[in-house]
Amino acid sequence: MAVTANQKKLDAHTLRADFPIFEQVIHGKPLAYLDSANSSQKPRQVLDAMTEFYETSYANVHRAVHVLGERATAGLEGAREKVRALLNAPDVREVIFVRNATEALNLVAYSWGGNNLGPGDAVVVTELEHHSNFVPWQYIAKRQGAEFRMLPLDDEGEVDLAGLDEIARDCNVKVVATNLVSNSLGTISDLASLVTWAHEQGAIFVCDAAQAAPHLRVDVQALDCDFLAISGHKMCGPSGIGALWGRAELLRRMEPFLLGGHMINSVRYEKTTWGELPHKFEAGTSPIAEAVGFGAAIDYLQAAGLDAIEAHEHELAAYALGRLGEVPGIKLYGPPAERRAGVVSFNVEGIHPHDVAQILDREGIAIRAGHHCCQPLMHKLGVAATNRASFYLYTVPEEIDQLVDGLATVHKVFA
Ligand SMILES: Cc1ncc(COP(=O)(O)O)c(C=O)c1O
Repeated sequence: MAVTANQKKLDAHTLRADFPIFEQVIHGKPLAYLDSANSSQKPRQVLDAMTEFYETSYANVHRAVHVLGERATAGLEGAREKVRALLNAPDVREVIFVRNATEALNLVAYSWGGNNLGPGDAVVVTELEHHSNFVPWQYIAKRQGAEFRMLPLDDEGEVDLAGLDEIARDCNVKVVATNLVSNSLGTISDLASLVTWAHEQGAIFVCDAAQAAPHLRVDVQALDCDFLAISGHKMCGPSGIGALWGRAELLRRMEPFLLGGHMINSVRYEKTTWGELPHKFEAGTSPIAEAVGFGAAIDYLQAAGLDAIEAHEHELAAYALGRLGEVPGIKLYGPPAERRAGVVSFNVEGIHPHDVAQILDREGIAIRAGHHCCQPLMHKLGVAATNRASFYLYTVPEEIDQLVDGLATVHKVFA
């Protein structure tokens, strides 16, 4: 491994060697992968853990008494414990494996919201949400006859809390749901006062940490949230697995989300009873090798150090904001580098973001162009789309230089 446990500063150049994807050129150019907020690349340690698991230990979990079944169950449950430790969750049974953060948030919306929301109640989200933490709440609130309220952003791009009293006067706030890190602007939000307010209203606080958990230390006890969602594929792990953490007392009182095998205690013609946590929420065959890969990814991030990763991203964000600021006609969105994770959204005057991204691709540079599943935010910014360059622990400043050079090519094409 290219990093060691006590390493203070992350050495992205060395660490990059762990990622086989960088051993290639794209269109004859070195690959500058600046799309990690979309999905991250995978180190050999994760790929090897999954291959080894398939080659030596694969079977279905929980149902078999044979050796392979025991190994597979140990692999899945070992990964659950790694997620628990990563999030500083009090109890491993509070960690539910799901397909991704979207499924985690839907689980809470349907299973908690579908049974606890009604007329006169309200769900509160912010203008900074990814659709995954917006649409399920909008849908379930409407279905239950509850209010759906959105906290707007102020001119600084911060969530404006001025309307909270009015919301509390108008309705019975039952859910406050927001992200810790914005996928679109990279904003790292200080959630403390919103969490306190939510709890004063008797509401649950749902934290979308899909974009936070890859980049900084996330502690569910320090956040004092009630539910928290993450996705493995954004954290150097495989796609197809994520996790929901929820307070045990809430999870125990909730109805299951998906029904079928594994999630039951007993099944009779007259009645079915549910299994214990976490199984009640894990119907069907689990993403077993994916869990093993997710566990290996968590080991990898822990070895690199979440604090070192966060510091590295602040440095890259500062460097990128400085270098991109030199590009003629560029408009940069979002907060200063010290309050953002490794995400920089921008537009180039007069050139559609998709054209920018397509020309950059020919230069070996992968960025994302679009609304980033944040249409309410795009509406606020007055644009249909932006370009977004996003960084991770393997990103090096040379890739940002390549981006700046690529934007000069974009200008030449459109001159
Ligand atoms: C802030 C945020 N929330 C939720 C999601 C949804 O994640 P997934 O597509 O893995 O479910 C994303 C993905 O981009 C995200 O950035």
